[in-house]
Amino acid sequence: KAMRNDISNLVKSVQDQETKRAFDVEMQSFFFLFTRYLAERARSQELDWERIKSPAEDQIVPYAKLPAGAEVRNLNKLAVLKVNGGLGTSMGMTGAKSALEVKDDMTFLDLTVRQIEHLNTTHRVDVPLILMTSFNTHEDTLRIIKKYANQQLRITTFNQSRYPRIFKETLLPCPKTADDEKKHWYPPGHGDLYNALYQSGVLDQLLADGKEYLFVSNSDNLGAVVDEKILQHMIDSQAEFLMEVTDKTKADIKGGTLIDYDGSIRLLEVAQVTSEHVEDFKSIRKFKIFNTNNLWINLPALRKIMQAGEMELDIIVNPKTTDEGQAVIQLETAAGAAIKHFKNAHGVNVPRSRFLPVKSCSDLLLIKSDIYSLQHGQLVINEQRMFETTPVIKLGDHFKKIAQFQKRFKKIPKIIELDHLTVTGDVYFGRNVTLRGTVIVVANEGQRIDIPDGCVLENRLLSGNLNM
Ligand code: UTP
Repeated sequence: KAMRNDISNLVKSVQDQETKRAFDVEMQSFFFLFTRYLAERARSQELDWERIKSPAEDQIVPYAKLPAGAEVRNLNKLAVLKVNGGLGTSMGMTGAKSALEVKDDMTFLDLTVRQIEHLNTTHRVDVPLILMTSFNTHEDTLRIIKKYANQQLRITTFNQSRYPRIFKETLLPCPKTADDEKKHWYPPGHGDLYNALYQSGVLDQLLADGKEYLFVSNSDNLGAVVDEKILQHMIDSQAEFLMEVTDKTKADIKGGTLIDYDGSIRLLEVAQVTSEHVEDFKSIRKFKIFNTNNLWINLPALRKIMQAGEMELDIIVNPKTTDEGQAVIQLETAAGAAIKHFKNAHGVNVPRSRFLPVKSCSDLLLIKSDIYSLQHGQLVINEQRMFETTPVIKLGDHFKKIAQFQKRFKKIPKIIELDHLTVTGDVYFGRNVTLRGTVIVVANEGQRIDIPDGCVLENRLLSGNLNM
């Protein structure tokens, strides 16, 4: 009740009638999520671990088994959507991660535009690009896409919701008015996509334009290019929803996994797992694959679910601490959780190359390096690389934030022959550095290591206070 009261006060704080109406709709969606949260908390609605099974064989189709020979004209019924509302907080970013320059002075968004332009010109089709932004990323995004305004490619943007953070103790909203400071609000996860697509009118527009399929992926996943074989498989198998999954390695702990729960397919996120089962969840034995968040969605089916008001997604409670040290929670949802609402929905196990995200500055170093080159906005492994695998890179905490990363590499080293790199402590790299084999650089507490310009390090361990 107190929450309802506070929410209605937030709505009352808006003067402009048009804005008020939209804000009211948004707050109603938030309130609905909040009441579901309370109800589930009261019933302690946790998944029963014993009933969680690995998915059945036919619930995950190997990519290699998909037949060749896709019909190109299907592409005319396709639209591509990038979820682009997150901040990349783990890399210390305050603007849109997709605005980061990743390769040859191009940002993630620029590369996506190249990829789709190439698809359209090669096949003479008209696949539009849709970008979901949030109040955190909207301006950055518009700034980047402005230069494409007069191009052939159609780019549509829509804003996802902005929900109030909630005080953990009192369960009351943090903001006092609708225009209260940014830090009191959050974008409620990429699962918000369905609601935002529907409420913004973009879903209806796509359908009116004859689009029937939507390919969704994270804006930082440069491996998520349109794949005609997967689209064809979606049509042939009459699946209303496909999730691209890929084999899990020990390093993959973040992604959710597909499970069989009482005979139906579901997404399980680590946040839904109680602490006693987290180790089990991470194990590669029971859960062999994880969600790449490359999703294929049948749009007429989506509209039906939205119109019936049936798009309930598992709530992920994201605990945070405010600058003032107060505990707050954010109620979020994940896009892949929608899999349970669609007919014939299943997973496709794709090659790892379709999952090439930048989650850390170590990932960024790899992608910026000579290991990859660009072909029409797509990253391809340099032919000169002797091995199939990419080097394992572990940059320490000093390289965690993007600003630090940029300061510490005057230029990205040449790493075509590198297997493994570990860097810890206060380390700076000069220009034209070459790294080969296994290189470990450790600057101890209070020490600083400068790798000089032009230096070649091959199978070397550097530590201590170094004067080279
Ligand atoms: P993640 O939150 O998993 O990863 O979002 P991230 O972008 O690396 O962010 P941090 O470092 O954990 O903060 C995966 C994708 O979902 C989008 C992001 O923009 C990213 O492309 N996303 C996330 C949204 O569009 N809206 C959200 O509310 C959250």
